[in-house]
Amino acid sequence: MRSSCVASIYRPAEDSYLLQRHVERLVEGSVLDMGTGSGIQAVAAAKKPNVRCVVAVDIDPAAVEAARGRAEEAHVSHKMCFINSDLFANVEGRFDWMVFNPPYLPSEGGVEDRTWDGGGTGRETILRFLEGAKEHLTPGGSILLIYSSEAGIEAEPYGYKLVVIEEKRLFFETLYCARLTLS
Ligand SMILES: C[S@@+](CC[C@H](N)C(=O)[O-])C[C@H]1O[C@@H](n2cnc3c(N)ncnc32)[C@H](O)[C@@H]1O
Repeated sequence: MRSSCVASIYRPAEDSYLLQRHVERLVEGSVLDMGTGSGIQAVAAAKKPNVRCVVAVDIDPAAVEAARGRAEEAHVSHKMCFINSDLFANVEGRFDWMVFNPPYLPSEGGVEDRTWDGGGTGRETILRFLEGAKEHLTPGGSILLIYSSEAGIEAEPYGYKLVVIEEKRLFFETLYCARLTLS
């Protein structure tokens, strides 16, 4: 039981480390880590003295528990809370920063794996997130988002200004870390 739950949790990879570098550098105040997985981003944020509180969210209850465990090991759980939610369904409040390493690849058919399957175009989860995020950003708040050249994103029609802050070429795709603000 436990091993099958653990096996479903995304093991930090190139995309995680790309985002983590900018979480460590940029976030402050109140932070939402959407799709927390192992909790790598949430804990990196919570370790920063200028971060007041971190909310770690995942649709997978096993991931929420993994993030809680990582936070306890790092002795930062006192400034965090953990929510099982499909995007913003169970989330309240507004945040100065949101970070999301989403499922960003197009579906391949067969069994859906929420760690990477972003729907038919690969953009479905990201676009739902961008729509919901508007109600949960503080004025002047920012989002750090990972996406792939395999799917791309259109943020402007959703009312965001997007600036790529780092890109990383891999064997079959380029990963982007972007900062988005409401325009
Ligand atoms: C690529 S993994 C990223 C995990 C971790 N944040 C990292 O950087 O390594 C994507 C995560 O998003 C979660 N996820 C997928 N769809 C979601 C949704 N609709 N709402 C919340 N979390 C979701 C998955 O369960 C998975 O943990």
